[in-house]
Amino acid sequence: MEETYTHGHGEPVLRSHRWRTAANSASYLLPHLRPGLDLLDIGCGPGTITAELAGRVAPGRTVGIDRAPEVVDQARSAVGRDAEFLTGDVYGLDFDPESFDVVHAHQLLQHLAEPVAALEEMRRVLRPGGRLAVRDADYGAFVWHPADDRLDRWRDLYTEVCDRNGGDADAGRRLPSWVDAAGFSDIEVSSSNWTYAEGRTAAWWAGLWADRTTSSTFGDQAIDYGLATRAELQTIAEGWREWATQAGALFVVVNMEVMARP
Ligand SMILES: C[S@@+](CC[C@H](N)C(=O)[O-])C[C@H]1O[C@@H](n2cnc3c(N)ncnc32)[C@H](O)[C@@H]1O
Repeated sequence: MEETYTHGHGEPVLRSHRWRTAANSASYLLPHLRPGLDLLDIGCGPGTITAELAGRVAPGRTVGIDRAPEVVDQARSAVGRDAEFLTGDVYGLDFDPESFDVVHAHQLLQHLAEPVAALEEMRRVLRPGGRLAVRDADYGAFVWHPADDRLDRWRDLYTEVCDRNGGDADAGRRLPSWVDAAGFSDIEVSSSNWTYAEGRTAAWWAGLWADRTTSSTFGDQAIDYGLATRAELQTIAEGWREWATQAGALFVVVNMEVMARP
């Protein structure tokens, strides 16, 4: 299976992932959690969301898994008192059938060449009556203001790199059909946004993407694939920083969410 994780785990990427909380990234799931449930979080990254979900289901077991051992180590040292963190691959989960009440994956399916196969594996480890909860962004649906050619170019480039890596930057809109194709039932679809507005949050978001463009595997891959030059990445990064200084700067990250039964 040809698949490369676009973002890598460099500092600007983890700066973004560590900002994530259960409240800002998994609010659709929270009303369905209760003490005693066993929960698996796949593609857990640095584990900030995992740790908070663990607090909701304790004394139930919470396990976070990720294919990248370096980020599993970081999760274990930062939030490892709240959940177990293990290296593992969604395509071959090292758990018996029907091991968990909840299987959660946040911003994972967009990076997979075979999302339906991954969802089938998630279904295998869910107990009857359990719940799948998946959430992914949809880059094609992002909204920003004011317009800037350099941000348009960023989105096109990101989409192309993701495609070359086997993923799908517009995964959000495809979640319901992928979940259905994997054999789940009782599919419930919702969406929610991250909103970054003029001032501190827009500057934070823009700074992240400026740094991610010049100093993360996304930028390196864009060059390796012959899709951009280092000078162009620099121009895009400057575009991000300048965009955030404008009056009324606003960026909305659209995320789709699906809950379903195995
Ligand atoms: C965008 S990050 C999301 C991290 C975390 N869920 C969050 O939202 O903060 C996606 C994570 O999925 C992991 N990943 C990619 N492919 C995977 C696979 N086949 N199996 C397990 N994890 C995978 C990556 O290493 C990365 O840490």
